[in-house]
Amino acid sequence: MAVGTVLVTGGTGYIGSFTALALLENGYEVVIVDNLYNSSEVAVDRIEAICGKRAAFYKVDVTDEAGLDEVFAKHPEIDSVIHFAALKAVGESGEIPLEYYRVNVGGSISLLRAMTRANVPNIVFSSSATVYGDATRVPNMIPIPEHCPIGPTNTYGRTKVMIETVITDHIDAQRNNSKKKGEPFEKWNGALLRYFNPCGSHPSGIMGEDPQGVPYNLLPLLGKVATGEREKLLVFGDDYASKDGTAIRDYIHVLDLARGHLAALNYLRENKPGVKAWNLGSGRGSTVFEMIKAFSKVVGRDLPYEVVERRQGDVLNLTANPALANAELKWKTELTLEDACADLWRWVENNPKGYRQDPPAELLET
Ligand code: NAD
Ligand code: WQD
Repeated sequence: MAVGTVLVTGGTGYIGSFTALALLENGYEVVIVDNLYNSSEVAVDRIEAICGKRAAFYKVDVTDEAGLDEVFAKHPEIDSVIHFAALKAVGESGEIPLEYYRVNVGGSISLLRAMTRANVPNIVFSSSATVYGDATRVPNMIPIPEHCPIGPTNTYGRTKVMIETVITDHIDAQRNNSKKKGEPFEKWNGALLRYFNPCGSHPSGIMGEDPQGVPYNLLPLLGKVATGEREKLLVFGDDYASKDGTAIRDYIHVLDLARGHLAALNYLRENKPGVKAWNLGSGRGSTVFEMIKAFSKVVGRDLPYEVVERRQGDVLNLTANPALANAELKWKTELTLEDACADLWRWVENNPKGYRQDPPAELLET
């Protein structure tokens, strides 16, 4: 018997696919909805190749309430949702803000409405460390605890703050409404997971990040420098107040992050806390130069880079204080930066075209 059945929105995407895998490996059934805007259905096959279990997949847009209703009707066993589906490019969010509010905020509202109609009470939401903005503006907030004042500096971050608010208000209201009706109110729960910088791939070399457009995150770009697809990495500023002048981030292996979702879901089901926010990070900060060095080491040669101007909107330091998740969710990161770099390189080297081309047969067989 399955432990439970989870609807994973955005489940063919990077973090969603790894979380679907972790759920299946831990006895859950998984139903994925994704409109494939930034992913490929091949992810469902790779999940199955790794764990021997298959997730149900529906090409449905999260803003399509009727489509979501149909999925819930087909799968009355769904008791929880993990909500990844979103647009996530920070720069683009400032250029087409209405689209970001429509998909991210509008899509979350549609999802919550469909969940309510289907009487599905648990939601785990992909929030982001970006909700904190520049935490160095407030004294003593590095590493960043959950009570650090919110202050997003871009449209994407503001959509995340809004969705956190919508979920909190909705779950509160559902609890109050249930109380008034004399029904069990504790069943309505939400987890707001604020991820730091996810990275890495599956150690098998057959599952990883495969964005449809041009990547803008540090590690995927380093991957492209290593394969020769890019000539060099542009380092955005070496005049920050860090030990080597480059900005500090908390890089977290996607396998650890996926386990964090499982821990949060299990916590909601067991402790019924209402809505709570948790940071998912390692607590360890690394500079851009340290990342270049770590990735160069696994590739086996120095990767070329050039220091250029700071990128607009970047902040000095986003390092998590993960103490709350460590204590309450009984979760902490286990994999190292070196693991993330080695796994990423195995993925990039064997899958230069991502999911558009099969990896070497021997990898699929193992
Ligand atoms: P991703 O783009 O790989 O995954 C998002 C998935 O959502 C994709 O498969 C995409 O096709 C799907 N999607 C987009 N719009 C949709 C819609 N309208 N209907 C249905 N599906 C839709 O991104 P990811 O890195 O896996 O991010 C997953 C979640 O985590 C997002 O909510 C993102 O904002 C959040 N997050 C990501 C990071 C990061 O650095 N990757 C950090 C913090 C938070
Ligand atoms: C990391 C570091 C760059 C590219 C973003 C979002 C955040 C979250 C994670 C979703 C920074 C430097 C990068 C390059 C560089 N996503 N860099 N040259 O900006 O910390 O966070 O992704 O929620 O919301 O803002 O991640 O990987 O883009 O950058 O020097 O070509 O690498 O300046 O210091 P970031 P990133």
